[in-house]
Amino acid sequence: MNKPISDPHLLYEDWILTETQFDPEQLNYKETVFTIGNGYLGTRGSFEEGYPGALAATLINGVYDDVPLFYTELANCPDWLPLLIIIDNEEFSLSRGEILSYQRQLDLKRGLLSRKICWRSPNGKTIDLYFERFASQADRHVVALRCQLTAVDFDETVLIRASIDGNPENKEGFNHWLILEQSYDDANTSLLVRTRSSRIELGMAVNLTISGTQAESKNTSVPGFPTIETKFDAVAGKTITLEKIVTVFTSREIETPIKAACNKLQELPSYTELLSDHEKAWKSLWENSDITIEGSSEAQLVLRYNLFQLLISAPQDDDRVSIPAKTLSGFGYRGHIFWDTEFFILPFFIFTQPNIARNLLTYRYHTLEGARRKAISYGYRGAMYAWESADTGDEVTPRWAPPDEIYGEDIRIWCRDREVHISSDISIAAWWYWQVTGDDEWMRDYGAEIILDTALFWSSRVELNIKRERYEIRQVIGPDEYHENVDNNAFTNRVVQWHLEKSLNIYDWLSKTYPEKTLELEEKLQLTSKRRWRWRDIVENLWIPYDPETGLFEQFEGFFKLEDTKLADYQPRTRSMQAILGIKETSKRQILKQPDVLMLLYLMGRTPDTDYGEKVLRKNWDYYAPRTDITYGSSLGPAVQGLVAASLGKTVEAYKYFRLAALVDLENTRGNAAEGIHGASCGSIWQAVIFGVAGVKFTPDGPATKPNLPNAWKRMKFKLYWRGDWYEFDLKSEGSIS
Ligand code: BGC
Repeated sequence: MNKPISDPHLLYEDWILTETQFDPEQLNYKETVFTIGNGYLGTRGSFEEGYPGALAATLINGVYDDVPLFYTELANCPDWLPLLIIIDNEEFSLSRGEILSYQRQLDLKRGLLSRKICWRSPNGKTIDLYFERFASQADRHVVALRCQLTAVDFDETVLIRASIDGNPENKEGFNHWLILEQSYDDANTSLLVRTRSSRIELGMAVNLTISGTQAESKNTSVPGFPTIETKFDAVAGKTITLEKIVTVFTSREIETPIKAACNKLQELPSYTELLSDHEKAWKSLWENSDITIEGSSEAQLVLRYNLFQLLISAPQDDDRVSIPAKTLSGFGYRGHIFWDTEFFILPFFIFTQPNIARNLLTYRYHTLEGARRKAISYGYRGAMYAWESADTGDEVTPRWAPPDEIYGEDIRIWCRDREVHISSDISIAAWWYWQVTGDDEWMRDYGAEIILDTALFWSSRVELNIKRERYEIRQVIGPDEYHENVDNNAFTNRVVQWHLEKSLNIYDWLSKTYPEKTLELEEKLQLTSKRRWRWRDIVENLWIPYDPETGLFEQFEGFFKLEDTKLADYQPRTRSMQAILGIKETSKRQILKQPDVLMLLYLMGRTPDTDYGEKVLRKNWDYYAPRTDITYGSSLGPAVQGLVAASLGKTVEAYKYFRLAALVDLENTRGNAAEGIHGASCGSIWQAVIFGVAGVKFTPDGPATKPNLPNAWKRMKFKLYWRGDWYEFDLKSEGSIS
């Protein structure tokens, strides 16, 4: 991957992402890029000293709260970062004075964010500063930062204020927290707050250590802003080190979070030991999840960066949360969970961190009740998963979006009602997890119920067309959301067929292996033999808009009759086709927001028994790829498009798409990285590299490769977990495998 020219101040090298210059224009997007986290929480890369217009956020997975009458969202949690440095009444800030040198680095191997600055205050005092911070992977309730400060040309008293900001706001200015308690004693400074609607309590405790000088500390008591204040005499050339350690618990994990936070803080070893334990934990995470590339140190960094984003947002100890579409790195989509997790992100975890995959899928088990409520409210049976899901699994997709133009009409969001393929996406993911891990217990206790109850939903949603003697699924939205409320979307119909077929297999397996569990589920889900018979009938007679003669799928009934548009005629452009033509006009044309048929063929191509073969793939590629708004449509598209291109041997084209996907946040290619990391894109990058570049397919003997390495890549190594064993792959550019 050559160095992109769009941001000359970002350097990509193996494990280290470096920013060489501070640009206030990029403040919010770079806050996303430099997010750190440990799966329990994520903290955006905002500065310790603050900056005007900053969007600082610490998001804890599962801490949802309502903005009454509007929506539920991940609540921005108290900010543990604030560290003010005041020299001669002058507060250090990059918005004042002069930045003499600046460097920010994210070390992916160590999970460490650092910043080196030489700053001259408006009063002419020069100071060298080095900041570093991490969210401990070894102990997920601990976050810590260190600041080393060297006066260059002055001897002066320096005042430090280390705080917790208990009044954080979400993007629209809503503060989710009530302050319950703030306390100080010799050992701890702590804060207890509670969300307004969901009544989740959160306790944080903080301490500050200073070395290299004599200093006196005291607490100041601004309500909701516990602060440790300290003063020392800086001497030119002498380095002083400040270490701020913060512990955090919520009532989601423990009854008395403030007590837990204070107790933990007491027990902790030194900052240096915490850091070393954290690094060891990262080492073991990377051991199974890393992909090494020889030949391009930039491609290596970019790939690792995408995997890092997944690892820092993945719940390791909690199976009641998942990964929000924008991970834990921003306010976009309000922390809601989409099919992005199961379709795009999950394969990375299934094959490299199966325990995390289990947690993510079990979240869907715990939210089945919400899915059942949704099914009932629409008049269906079984479980109908929410298009956007939060803590309970109830549908949280907004019904209306504000208009694009002032005085325009509100926009109806149909995905909540019609983008129903999500129920099968989840079931397919559950089935894959089981296939790969052989985790029968999970399938018995959790997976089977997910798959069977959503299958029951389908048998009430699918319609029989008596005239045409076939089953149909009408009024849906497929992955391509430029076309709403269409009939017989090929993707939806085929995944439903697959889902119902697997449901029958699961039922047979369960009744043979665990007859008691089968009886329990039959009773609980009212799973009668008549209903199972209907599944079989649907599998055999569900119409798939596919012409075996030509090998072409019609994306949905009537798609080929829509007006054809040459996307090339609209070049150059910087907006999506929907933004250019409008929602209504785009829906009348053969323009795709993201791959739809190709997404289906990619999914089916993973195993020989469902693969439609190269001829069909090529035929559909030739038709659909040129009609897809790949650059400005959905961020979920490029990696999948690249993956299909790679499997057709179109390596150069594939690489172009991979770059588009891999740089979506690093280079802010869609202009919305400030909203948070595009999690699905990160996950699909892994799939693109494993299934596209390495050409991994699953055979009865395990995973096998058919590599298509880009020219620059000399060698590529990775591991995959498959049925109890780790398979190690070492691919060379000429295609040799050892
Ligand atoms: C895409 C969906 C995706 C959602 C969240 C939308 O723009 O079309 O497929 O699930 O974003 O990432």
